[in-house]
Amino acid sequence: MKRKEETAFADAFQDRLAVASTEKVRMVIREQYKDAFDILQDCENANLIPAIIGPPGVGKTLLLRAYAQKTNRLFEWVTGDEGVRPSHLIGSFNPALVLNKGFSLDSFEPGPLLRAMVFGGVFGLNEGNRLPEYVQNSLLEPFEEFSVSVQRLGRIKAHDGFFPVLTMNPDEMAGAHRLSEAFRDRVRVWIKLGYPRKETEIEIIRVNCPEYKLTDHVLDSIYSLVSATRTNADIEVPASIRAGISIARLAAEMSRREKREITHEVLSHAAHHVLLGGLKFRPGIDLDPAVSLLVSRALASSRAVATESKSDEEDTEA
Ligand SMILES: Nc1ncnc2c1ncn2[C@@H]1O[C@H](COP(=O)(O)OP(=O)(O)OP(=O)(O)O)[C@@H](O)[C@H]1O
Ligand SMILES: [Mg+2]
Repeated sequence: MKRKEETAFADAFQDRLAVASTEKVRMVIREQYKDAFDILQDCENANLIPAIIGPPGVGKTLLLRAYAQKTNRLFEWVTGDEGVRPSHLIGSFNPALVLNKGFSLDSFEPGPLLRAMVFGGVFGLNEGNRLPEYVQNSLLEPFEEFSVSVQRLGRIKAHDGFFPVLTMNPDEMAGAHRLSEAFRDRVRVWIKLGYPRKETEIEIIRVNCPEYKLTDHVLDSIYSLVSATRTNADIEVPASIRAGISIARLAAEMSRREKREITHEVLSHAAHHVLLGGLKFRPGIDLDPAVSLLVSRALASSRAVATESKSDEEDTEA
């Protein structure tokens, strides 16, 4: 029985590996994303290390994934925190294998940075400023010389396709955890991503909801909701692009289950559930009523929400 379970797991695992390797990134590359994509290319050609700065969920990681995919390369990424050690980036010997094979390549398990250096992949380092200083220092050689010393195995030079990129949240830049001066000096180009313009954000929501038919009016209302959170002085952390996508998906499912159109009421219900945890108000503000007020005001000011079925009719009439 145990054996059977193991085989089933191995088969399912292989299956998942195949799905991941053929997965295509769906990204809207226009406006700021097109500029950032082009600058990434320029940095790579010029051998300069860039950092992408932007609020959570603005598409930093996706941009790197899309860039790696476009250039047909491996994409590895790591998020920095105080628990990350150089061995998590470079790799380490497996003690059980060392017993049999000694300190050889056969007993070494490479980390994401080393894999990207050996295979020539894009290496995304999220929140590198949260890494302890000695870990940041261990990255100086790979980021400056494009080489790394692996204990007991030797010093390797990175493949030409190795491209390290930092991604960071702007608040983190000003926070207590900063990039060490030495590390910051290695990062030469700073690329800013902000919330996209209306048409682009609506297109992003649409691309992330391929299985739902959302009318222009519904998308417009969702944009009004999320953008209202970005201009409200009482909100410290506004709704991200992820929040807009989530409102769209939840509202579409609610309307499907209730067999009715995506009305203001459905949108308001979905938005409430998403924004309760997707926003951060200033201290002292009562969350529930504040979200309700925000949602009702934003929806009242948006255009009337047209129905899914109505749009379907228009489509077929056209
Ligand atoms: N240009 C875009 N095209 C399509 N989808 C996008 C785009 N930008 C953002 N998204 C959507 O927003 C989600 C968040 O993007 P991503 O994870 O890249 O953000 P991030 O900036 O790396 O966030 P974090 O700071 O939290 O790491 C993506 O999974 C995707 O669904
Ligand atoms: Mg990210």
